[in-house]
Amino acid sequence: MNLSLLASSIAESPTLRLNALAKSMLAQGAPVIHLGGGEPKNKAPQSAIAAAEAYLNTGDVKYTPSAGTLSLRKAVGDYTEANYGRKVAVENIIISAGAKQTLYNLLFTLVNPGDEVIVPAPYWVSYPEMVRMVGGVPVTVASGEETHVPRAEELLAAVTARTKAILINSPNNPSGAMYPAELVEEVVRFCERKGIWLIADDIYHKLVFDGKTAPNPLGFTDKDSESTHVIVINAVSKIYGMTGFRIGWAVAPKPIIAIMNNIQSATTSCNSGVLMAAAEGALKGPQEGVREMVSMLENNRNTMLKALAEIPGVHVVKPQGTFYCLPDFSLYQKDSLALCNFLLEKVFVVTVPGKEFGAEGRLRLSYCGSAEEVAEGVARIRWALDPSAPKEIRIGGKTAVRDW
Ligand SMILES: Cc1ncc(COP(=O)(O)O)c(C=O)c1O
Repeated sequence: MNLSLLASSIAESPTLRLNALAKSMLAQGAPVIHLGGGEPKNKAPQSAIAAAEAYLNTGDVKYTPSAGTLSLRKAVGDYTEANYGRKVAVENIIISAGAKQTLYNLLFTLVNPGDEVIVPAPYWVSYPEMVRMVGGVPVTVASGEETHVPRAEELLAAVTARTKAILINSPNNPSGAMYPAELVEEVVRFCERKGIWLIADDIYHKLVFDGKTAPNPLGFTDKDSESTHVIVINAVSKIYGMTGFRIGWAVAPKPIIAIMNNIQSATTSCNSGVLMAAAEGALKGPQEGVREMVSMLENNRNTMLKALAEIPGVHVVKPQGTFYCLPDFSLYQKDSLALCNFLLEKVFVVTVPGKEFGAEGRLRLSYCGSAEEVAEGVARIRWALDPSAPKEIRIGGKTAVRDW
């Protein structure tokens, strides 16, 4: 078929593919444990449901303003002031279908064909694909294996005359690493000086453990909201466990938001008013649920680290946030896709190959399920890999015997 070469070169999201596979295996009765997920298990906040219900009950569900309802943009403005210490106008904010669409529209707005976007590895799978989709060139920069944090010198040494933006995500998917404040500050100051865009994908910024807080990229610039090169992306998806509501946003200088708005109005027209009402309900409602979720995730992280410590030779950097970690399994299998397939086939544990995140030899493991699932999933992995583990275990009510 004579199709677009660029479109045909874009890979399917491996995480979404694995989610679909896990669901279909579960539906067929397989005792699947999903350590590949990218969404917290909690229910959406009651304030979000009530707001969506009230909106639906008006029966008046029509097109909405393309950049998002004024009231949600104001709520995002309040969130930005409360969490980033910066007062922004509604014209500095656009609402889109999740952080994903927001990022895509932003890259489309910033990048000319051949422009480079620096993406520190390990990175979220979709970044390089999105950069390529808008005609840009993703430039990945390796991080220290002991920290999963890039060194400022190496990151900045990757800058060329074609660099349009640096895209950071901290706390980080897939590693759970949080970049130190000094690094974020140095990169922000560099970008402001050179006129390079710093895109901070802050979607996990509240899911931080051990009583810490994520460094605030907007806190390190003395430029105002129109002259800054710092752009923040966020969403209700992870913080409130509202992945299915598809509401995210960007905070950026007005001309950027205006172009993103034009792109949105020419493609999707607008977001659903019902879902925007829900997001507003979450932002304005009680925040206790976020704290509870963080404490549940921190507990799960500890369970995960304890279980991984039982597998000889597996090293993991302690995550400081998110609900992921990125242990190194290269002692057992260097090819992470082969290992992922092996674990799914032998012990019904879903994992995501590190290769997809620029971290071959590692697996991304999620701990957003229950602590029991985390413990059992890792115990099954140990059983499958470690010859010193007992020869038999119970999986899904049956005795499994290791014969490999
Ligand atoms: C780093 C990062 N950015 C963006 C997204 C997408 O967020 P949303 O569901 O709001 O589109 C994800 C989801 O996994 C993510 O991990």
